[in-house]
Amino acid sequence: MSKQWGFTTKAIHGGRMPDAHKAVAPPIYQTATFYYDSAEEGARLGQEIPPGYIYTRWANPTTRALEEKVALLEGGEDALATSSGMGAVSSAVLTVVKPGDHAVAPAAIYQATYQLFADILPGYGIQTTVISDSSTDAYERALRPNTKLLFIETPNNPMLGITEIERVAALARARSAVTIADNTWATPYNQTPLSLGVDVVAHSATKYLGGHHDVTAGLIVGRAEFIKRAKRQARILGTTIDPFGAWLVIRGLATLALRVERQNGSAQRLAEFLAGHPKVSKVYYPGLPSHPGHAIARRQMRGFGGMLSFEVKGGYGPGVRAFEALQVCKRATSLGGISTLVSHPAGISSVQMPKEIRAVAGISEGLIRVSVGIEDPDDLLDDFEQALRLA
Ligand SMILES: Cc1ncc(COP(=O)(O)O)c(C=O)c1O
Repeated sequence: MSKQWGFTTKAIHGGRMPDAHKAVAPPIYQTATFYYDSAEEGARLGQEIPPGYIYTRWANPTTRALEEKVALLEGGEDALATSSGMGAVSSAVLTVVKPGDHAVAPAAIYQATYQLFADILPGYGIQTTVISDSSTDAYERALRPNTKLLFIETPNNPMLGITEIERVAALARARSAVTIADNTWATPYNQTPLSLGVDVVAHSATKYLGGHHDVTAGLIVGRAEFIKRAKRQARILGTTIDPFGAWLVIRGLATLALRVERQNGSAQRLAEFLAGHPKVSKVYYPGLPSHPGHAIARRQMRGFGGMLSFEVKGGYGPGVRAFEALQVCKRATSLGGISTLVSHPAGISSVQMPKEIRAVAGISEGLIRVSVGIEDPDDLLDDFEQALRLA
């Protein structure tokens, strides 16, 4: 029945949270372990899929409630919560590939995901191709007979490139490969990749799902059989989320739609303001008709999201001057929360990428990335206006 609910009703009331006292706010089962009364009960709970709870690294009621909610929001059969977004990305990827397999991911992608494909996987005998753009053609050209995984991040980091999810998923399906889509930037409110043919969705719940800059967490969503394998692996590798972290994400989810609606609107206004500003040379936002991915984004997204990047005329010097002059916006890495955060990718969030890969990904020295928060939109525009005056 809950499948017919609207997004926010699912976010608030979806997922089971059994509680003996009928608490309205979900309880936090802040326990590492659960007792049992007999050897027989212990043996039952020690099975691969236990009929109850035995140890939080395996499963926990608060964590489980989070998993059920996010599975519902993404339209998947089941979910696994992890200790971070990279815990989610690596859990999903390592559930798919084994030595001898080949995987494809774009260069313009979250830095640590890039490093997973460029540095870590090849060390375990997994071949990888990092493609220079995230178009369907680039994915197609990279295919090999042993390709088992196509990794998508759309909109991507930090250039807001758009990948046509349905076509890349179809490419993968035609050769029995798996697609994983990092849906962190879009959120399930704006985009549901599973409905477009993707096999697995990964999230950094540190961002929009948590939404308040106070928790590090991740999730993957997909078919029950895939999540079962991922869960077994997570239990062994130890990427489990802690119950309080899971609870913070549950609390954040209740307002996800309200926050994202506001962020979609404010980001559109800010993108239009920057696009018309004489000191700005380029704005990257899929909601602008001039964005090369605008038409695809219109088809596959319900809203264009709260992330944008822009370049100040004159490159590094003026770009950094404007960046440092912002007063309402905070200079901080991360994104997707209530406060507007700005970052300088060439200086921080993508700095460990080789310079030539940054160039391939289009990350210039003066690029500024903005994660639009939920502040009053007029205050944000005023802040950028005064900062650009000083650029
Ligand atoms: C798109 C994307 N995926 C994954 C991550 C990693 O998330 P976490 O920092 O929670 O591990 C990030 C972090 O910024 C991200 O932007």
